[in-house]
Amino acid sequence: MNGNSSELISRLMNARSVVVLTGAGISAASGVPTFRGEGGLWKNYRPEELATPSAFLRDAGLVWEWYLWRRDLISQVKPNPGHQALVELENLVPDCAVITQNVDNLHQDSGSRKVIELHGNIMRNKCFECGKMYQGEVKSDAIPHCPECGGLIRPDVVWFGEPLPEHAIREAHQYAGKCDVFLIVGTSGIVEPAASIPFIARSANAYLAEFNLNSTPISEICDETFFGEADKKLPEIIGDFKKRKRNLS
Ligand code: OAD
Repeated sequence: MNGNSSELISRLMNARSVVVLTGAGISAASGVPTFRGEGGLWKNYRPEELATPSAFLRDAGLVWEWYLWRRDLISQVKPNPGHQALVELENLVPDCAVITQNVDNLHQDSGSRKVIELHGNIMRNKCFECGKMYQGEVKSDAIPHCPECGGLIRPDVVWFGEPLPEHAIREAHQYAGKCDVFLIVGTSGIVEPAASIPFIARSANAYLAEFNLNSTPISEICDETFFGEADKKLPEIIGDFKKRKRNLS
């Protein structure tokens, strides 16, 4: 069903806790290509062919080169009005968390205070062998080696077949299980376990609203879907929510 903003705004007015799950679609307007949309392929590789431990073991140079390209792209982009609307939302409700599958740091850059990174962060690195963390970007064209154990350095992102950071998934489940409103923004809803988080909110009787260009497997459990670009729809609805709150105070 196409969304009815007055119903969502009423729900937000009464909400104590609001949770937002975001995917690549929220960063599209910043110029970061989505994974499964146009521009999602790099040198004709799908993300599932590169973002895996076995791809790194097979051809670490190729995977490192892909991440250098993505890091370079991401380091040049800025948050868009969709990210900024979520910062506004955080200021308008008692409790708000953004659970993101994105690794681009744009929620943090825009000023969101509570961000749960399910898939890590592309600007951090760690050792493939011993797991030691390395803060800050490593720009080297050749893959660096860990000074501790000599292993190869890799980005601190979750690859297909790897578990999500335990603390992140635990916190995401806790937030989803106690929220009143759950927004799903710009995700295809097909990569697990992130895709199951809205189902936890559904079981906890939260109001679910999705923002996407098209329907997804999550749409059928949502109360409404707002079709359109997140960088336009979110500011519109959160702006109206802000006005309604102001009129009441
Ligand atoms: P996808 O590329 O799978 O999906 C992006 C979604 O955003 C699609 O449903 C689009 O319709 C929607 N979309 C595109 N532009 C939009 C816009 N301007 N406004 C609103 N929606 C828009 O990206 P994710 O769902 O984030 O994981 O992908 C999930 C995970 O798969 C990623 O975190 C990554 C990837 O492989 C790993 O790398 C582990």
